[in-house]
Amino acid sequence: MTTSTEQILEHARGLPSPPKVLSALTNLIADDDYDTSELARIIKTDAGLSARLLKVANSAFYGLASRVGSIDRAAVMLGREEILRIAMAAVAAALTPEQLRGYDVAGRGLWFKNLVTAHLAEALAKRVEGVCPPIAFTTGLLLDVGKIGLDAFIVEEREVVLELVRQREASFDDIERTTVGADHALVGSCMASSWSLPEVVCEAIAQHHRPSSGGALVGVIHCADSIAMSVAATGAIDDLAYEASAEVLAHLGVRATELDLITLRALARASEQQETY
Ligand SMILES: [Fe+2]
Repeated sequence: MTTSTEQILEHARGLPSPPKVLSALTNLIADDDYDTSELARIIKTDAGLSARLLKVANSAFYGLASRVGSIDRAAVMLGREEILRIAMAAVAAALTPEQLRGYDVAGRGLWFKNLVTAHLAEALAKRVEGVCPPIAFTTGLLLDVGKIGLDAFIVEEREVVLELVRQREASFDDIERTTVGADHALVGSCMASSWSLPEVVCEAIAQHHRPSSGGALVGVIHCADSIAMSVAATGAIDDLAYEASAEVLAHLGVRATELDLITLRALARASEQQETY
């Protein structure tokens, strides 16, 4: 590891941490059979998140017959999976800055693309042995968090980075490594680890652009990310500048027609969810 890589990781770990509720929720749902009342209890420990969740639950989108006034009631009305999706999307939105100048992307655009990734990952996880769908959803939302940690360094090397992107000879994570000394997958994984997220999530973030040696979650996240980049392009300098592994996608064993349907549904769900924020 070069000195500059260590400096980047130190900088990333020093950025403001997400609220503790992220770690508590992610560690809770790592158990497939998590308890709804425990989920509600954890959400209630964060007043800001609780208020946001109730606002979304009471939005026109859900069309509830009567106003929901508590997290417990919202969990009953909307179901634990939906409550979790709303909570995780809210935490990820709060984590994302308004603009990432190095990547030339609005935080909102990056968040939406990762929300599409999250819905795709959850749907794929339901078809793949050994992957927990809520963990897949959460990892999809967080997979590019390293861009927040790396952005200031990309800004410094922006002209060189842009020239390498124009040449189209290397994938963007290679360009990150050669220009600033670390890629956003490594940086994101270190950030997630410093936030005490489960090891399986950290591993999937670390390998989401290099999935060949990873486990089932890594494969699901890589494929979901590759598809989301093609249907929810953000206009960032790294749009479609990564390698998508056809072998990993084939290994998932999801038929092309089913994949098309999953993609359309994920895009629709993310668009609907975006409306409520
Ligand atoms: Fe990425």
